[in-house]
Amino acid sequence: MDWSLAVTIGAALLAIFFLFLRLTRPRGHRLPPGNLGLPLVGETLQLISAYKSANPEPFIDERVTRYGPLFTTHVFGEPTVFSADPETNRYILQNEGKLFECSYPGSISNLLGRHSLLLMKGNLHKKMHSLTMSFGNSSIIKDHLLLDIDRLIRFNMDSWTSRILLMEEAKKITFDLTVKQLMSFDPGEWTESLRKEYVLVIEGFFTVPFPLFSATYRRAIQARTKVAEALNLVVRERRKAKEEGEEEKKNDMLAALLDSGDNFSDEQIVDFILALLVAGYETTSTIMTLAIKFLTETPLALAQLREEHDEIRARISDPNVLEWSDYKSMPFTQCVVNETLRVANIIGGIFRRVTTDIHVKGYTIPKGWKVFASFRAVHLDHEYFKDARTFNPWRWQNNSGPTVPGSGVNVFTPFGGGPRLCPGYELARVVLSVFLHRMVTRYSWAPAEEDKLVFFPTTRTQKRYPINVERRKVSSAAEKGEG
Ligand code: HEM
Repeated sequence: MDWSLAVTIGAALLAIFFLFLRLTRPRGHRLPPGNLGLPLVGETLQLISAYKSANPEPFIDERVTRYGPLFTTHVFGEPTVFSADPETNRYILQNEGKLFECSYPGSISNLLGRHSLLLMKGNLHKKMHSLTMSFGNSSIIKDHLLLDIDRLIRFNMDSWTSRILLMEEAKKITFDLTVKQLMSFDPGEWTESLRKEYVLVIEGFFTVPFPLFSATYRRAIQARTKVAEALNLVVRERRKAKEEGEEEKKNDMLAALLDSGDNFSDEQIVDFILALLVAGYETTSTIMTLAIKFLTETPLALAQLREEHDEIRARISDPNVLEWSDYKSMPFTQCVVNETLRVANIIGGIFRRVTTDIHVKGYTIPKGWKVFASFRAVHLDHEYFKDARTFNPWRWQNNSGPTVPGSGVNVFTPFGGGPRLCPGYELARVVLSVFLHRMVTRYSWAPAEEDKLVFFPTTRTQKRYPINVERRKVSSAAEKGEG
């Protein structure tokens, strides 16, 4: 055996031995119990194979049963403490920037761009997070975005005939909505060519754990350059128009960035916009698709939802205009939205790096370690949700979600929390509600093929959820003004 290889293996074994010693130190100064798995790969392969199946739960269930809700494992090249405990998850989320820091692999950072909100830290992050939050708040959605959301959903649906891949359609809708919100472009040739490159960028995010050996990743980096160039041109033109006093007043994110008085460079603005485009794309489109999948598999819920929306449609004077008050009168829809978020867990949890030794629940997590706050484990825990693994929207009737007895900590966190709380949380809810309104009032549908839900590298259905849609007669008559 080559000497350098022998030394490397020896060093790796020694490191694992010392980790083992730390794992078995007396309570109070020791890591949460667990198993580091094989040298170097740890338990990564077990995790991937569990999450590539329709039932990933045993990966966490088995470890929680053996070690408790805080356990140590080794995944994606690093020892990591997993938390299936809502109080610890809250502690991790709330202490972002103080005791914990978000941490993405270099391959992801390159795709996001160094000025993206997801990578920002400290005061700049605070400021830009609040700017983004204020841009997606309910009064902006009510006064500016709702009309566009509804119009663009209807526009995309208008092209549907018989068989569609729902996930693809939802992605088109989401992309069009985000481009409109960020830069005021309506769907057209420019947005479509941007989307083609953008889709290649997105594929790059899912080449974990070996991006650097992947042709898909290299293609994604090239596509990112093209998308950034296209966005750069838009930013330059808008900046020029503003400087020359020729800019039409626009209520989009780009205007907010140009007007903020912070003299952001073009590169900063492009990275920022691109990251927003990424953050809302897979998440919102997947939740739209899965809401329909779960409803299709739960006919009673679909019937109740349709009844709620048929009533709204019968009440409103113009069936093509959905107003804020209509959105606010969809109680069962909100139950469906919550339950879809709970069961689907699009963002199953978040990774953070520990910036100083942490003492939590009687254990110590050393500085530099990774933690994973699993939302999924908590959302699917029978202790907090009866029959937790069943889609049951009625559980949300007159109920805003369970809390931990004693501490009152909120158990339901599909959008995270603390300083990095998702700035798109309200927007995602509105988009999903309007989409459901248009879907159930306009169409009936049936699955065209059996499709399976998987969870790695992201939550998705394997075949992009093919369905056959049929226009409901009552709906097309109403929209032509006949009923
Ligand atoms: C169902 C849809 C969505 C889900 C489940 C979701 C979930 C999340 C979660 C859990 C986080 C926290 C990540 C962390 O703590 O590291 C997050 C962050 C973020 N989300 Fe969303 N999101 C959704 C839709 C959106 C939309 C529509 C937008 C954009 C308009 C958006 C923009 C962002 C951004 C920019 C961040 C990073 C915030 C920061 O690091 O300060 N999300 N999202």
